[in-house]
Amino acid sequence: MAVLQTALMYVGIGVVAYYMSLVITLVYDVFLRAGTKLEKFGAGQGAWAAVTGCTDGLGREAALELARKGFNVLLLSRSADKLDVVAGEVRQAGVEARAVAVDFAAATEEDWTRVARELDAVRVGVLMNNVGVSYDHPMHVEEVEPQAADAMVDLNVRTMVRMTQLVLGQMKERRSGLIINSGSFAALVPSPFLSIYSGTKGFVKYFSQSLAAEVAPFNIVVEHLQTYFVCSRMSKTRKPTFLIPLPKPYIRNVLAKIGVEGGSAEPYTSIPYLSHALIAFVSERLVPKQVAISYNHGLLGGLRKRALKKKQQQQQQEATKA
Ligand SMILES: NC(=O)c1ccc[n+]([C@@H]2O[C@H](COP(=O)([O-])OP(=O)(O)OC[C@H]3O[C@@H](n4cnc5c(N)ncnc54)[C@H](OP(=O)(O)O)[C@@H]3O)[C@@H](O)[C@H]2O)c1
Repeated sequence: MAVLQTALMYVGIGVVAYYMSLVITLVYDVFLRAGTKLEKFGAGQGAWAAVTGCTDGLGREAALELARKGFNVLLLSRSADKLDVVAGEVRQAGVEARAVAVDFAAATEEDWTRVARELDAVRVGVLMNNVGVSYDHPMHVEEVEPQAADAMVDLNVRTMVRMTQLVLGQMKERRSGLIINSGSFAALVPSPFLSIYSGTKGFVKYFSQSLAAEVAPFNIVVEHLQTYFVCSRMSKTRKPTFLIPLPKPYIRNVLAKIGVEGGSAEPYTSIPYLSHALIAFVSERLVPKQVAISYNHGLLGGLRKRALKKKQQQQQQEATKA
């Protein structure tokens, strides 16, 4: 009996020590640990940062912050007029900007040749695979328009893979480079009613982690950026809160914490914002996955119902007006 008690005591001490070490790592990552310096990837030395989906939200802020850090910026996004505006803003930081207008959801081989030519013409130190779309509101899989589902896969998955293929040659040759892939908490916990989006971000996670290990011997860093909500057009949130920051402070943390996990249980993953790191810590370390999925099922199912009700009310109002 005494032996059993002693054994249980040691197991208990081990478990507490384990969780204490995780909390200490989280606090150290978020508050103290500095990320890899961007100079390592050519900041201020003539290198370029290529950013997809860069005329709004996180991508726009990343383009501007990378410019402030001394990168020339290759802007790749859909709308030529918006690209011109962001290119002007980038140049105000005293660096060069080039813009490539391409609709990644309908990119032809000619478009990809154009993109490849632009990438080959410069020294790409950083690639930020940021472009991505999600649902208008949570839905059953069969309720998503086939074109919207295709666009989600094209933007969230295929564009990331193609862009990565296009820069790896020169990065390997130089034995230097940073690739940041925009992931989501929809890949931290599977998200019912956002199944296609969640699936694409699951791809982003495993692609990034596999690639990170594959290219580490070439001195190339691949970072799976796991983001909870940030104010943007996609998140439909404008007002920042403790949990949902504005793109500017969020992206500042992203670029200051390259290579820092932020307490994440996933290798090659960065959760660089305090409130996001806390949510991830609880979801990953303390809550069984099935419980988390059931929670998401209830939450997102509720949001779906509310969105449908709102849509119905709008339709009724429009019918009354007509
Ligand atoms: N915001 C969040 O809460 C959140 C959370 C988790 C993950 N993320 C991820 O972060 C990334 C950026 O999200 P965001 O919230 O910043 O998005 P956003 O504000 O909606 O901005 C999307 C950007 O992508 C461009 N874009 C959209 N469709 C395109 C297309 N077919 N071809 C080329 N460019 C296109 C948009 O250009 P136009 O202006 O021309 O439309 C815009 O510049 C995504 O990968 C997303 O999954 C975001």
